[in-house]
Amino acid sequence: MIAEASSIVPFTGAGISTECGIPDFRSPGGLWTRNRPIPFDEFVASQEARDESWRRRFAMEPTFAAAKPGRGHRALASLYRAGKVPGIITQNIDNLHQTSGFKADDVIELHGNTTYARCIGCGKDYDLSWVKQHFDKTGGAPDCADCGDPVKTATISFGQSMPEDAMRRAAELSRQCDLFLAIGSSLVVWPAAGFPMMAKESGARLVIINNEPTDQDDMADLVIRHDIGDTLGPFVGN
Ligand code: OAD
Ligand code: ZN
Repeated sequence: MIAEASSIVPFTGAGISTECGIPDFRSPGGLWTRNRPIPFDEFVASQEARDESWRRRFAMEPTFAAAKPGRGHRALASLYRAGKVPGIITQNIDNLHQTSGFKADDVIELHGNTTYARCIGCGKDYDLSWVKQHFDKTGGAPDCADCGDPVKTATISFGQSMPEDAMRRAAELSRQCDLFLAIGSSLVVWPAAGFPMMAKESGARLVIINNEPTDQDDMADLVIRHDIGDTLGPFVGN
């Protein structure tokens, strides 16, 4: 299928990064099995929730800082360099597609990015080191130096509105590809989980690579229920 396709759009979830040491959300030991997610309205309303959210983020920092692209990331980057992949849609926030060689413009981040911070009011971006300094000095989560609103990781929390531009570009890519690869996602979080169906309905072949069944397996042309690194490893090129 990869050989026959002229436009391959990968759609990735947390499963592609587990071999890089980053836990996923819903597997045994996944993040949501250890901590409940902090919804956006709670983050906005409560300093305590903001402090807890940043504590969790700093606790994860050694993991994110040490993570290098895995075989799945590198295989997709090889296909991208070969001109087969016009862009990648990801639910991941770990920046590893960019590190593996995708231009930032070609990575459509549906759920944002946790490697920097953003004011939820005016949208000003901050380095995590700025947040850490503030946190260490005051013992709590910082507010924006410009507008005074809370500063959050540049990710999308439950209840927060989806990034419009990313949603539009993901829809475009899903509709124009001839092969859509859903990789390492439980495909339960919407609206992100709607893109495989959009691609399929627009005539693309759909392949799901995931070591557990997903709700959307019935719709796929091929389901590979196997490890992602092992499956995509042979496609790692130069
Ligand atoms: P999930 O944790 O829901 O699903 C990851 C899937 O990858 C699971 O079905 C695992 O079995 C599978 N998996 C893990 N490692 C694998 C491996 N090495 N090989 C094959 N399969 C593997 O993660 P997502 O679907 O990405 O959103 O979660 C979607 C969204 O839910 C996330 O973007 C995040 C979360 O809440 C927000 O925070 C808004
Ligand atoms: Zn601001």
